[in-house]
Amino acid sequence: PRLWYLVPAAGVGSRMQADRPKQYLELSPGGCVLEATLATLKRALPEAGLCLVLGADDDYFSPSMVPWQDWLRADGGSERADSVLAGLDCLSRHAHDDDLVLVHDVARPCVREADIHALVATARRSADGAILAAPASDTMKRAAPAGDSRPHGDGDEERAPSIAHTESRVGLWHAFTPQAFPLGLLRRALREALGENPALITDEASALEACGRAPVLVAAARDNLKITHPEDLAMARLLLAAREA
Ligand code: C5P
Repeated sequence: PRLWYLVPAAGVGSRMQADRPKQYLELSPGGCVLEATLATLKRALPEAGLCLVLGADDDYFSPSMVPWQDWLRADGGSERADSVLAGLDCLSRHAHDDDLVLVHDVARPCVREADIHALVATARRSADGAILAAPASDTMKRAAPAGDSRPHGDGDEERAPSIAHTESRVGLWHAFTPQAFPLGLLRRALREALGENPALITDEASALEACGRAPVLVAAARDNLKITHPEDLAMARLLLAAREA
């Protein structure tokens, strides 16, 4: 079976409060987030194919950003899972159901090549696929429902949520990407799960779980951060510069 990357890059990144989608913000001199992510993926698995999912009216993309000669392009949907499903539909016309697909957020440029290799090795031995992840290290708080929050401080306007209780972090993991599954299995699971409760499907593994599958957790470096908020971009720049030093 062949290997494929499926990279959803059709988000608008509104939480970045930037003038353009976050995947087009400058990350390192001469390269935006999308270029850095694709370059790392290509270096890790030069033999893998690529399906890139882009917004239908994306004015920032240029084919020169893609380090593949031949690659597939799909049009994104309104939510991340819709974009991934569009990519899987496109891939299914070019790939086999038992090909391994690694879905990777374009907004995670700091993923390490060694972790991608470990993921592929585990996913090839697993019937239910595998994902990169890390055990939770912070203490996890459940916030009280909004109506239960009490005013804090002097002003009535300050209505920060209060704590309902502390969740046990034993056995809790942060899910990263890439997430790797056989193409046919992932496509069926995502389609089914989106038809039932799309709000619960925030990654690929959650669609598999909804079908009773149990993907494997592959422990990865914690610096595989997702650029979501403005401060994340500064952190990603520092991380990548430190690796080059
Ligand atoms: O916004 P967020 O960081 O959760 O997006 C995760 C990934 O999903 C990003 O790579 C983003 O470009 C992609 N995405 C997409 N289509 C959407 C929403 C997000 O491809 N409609």
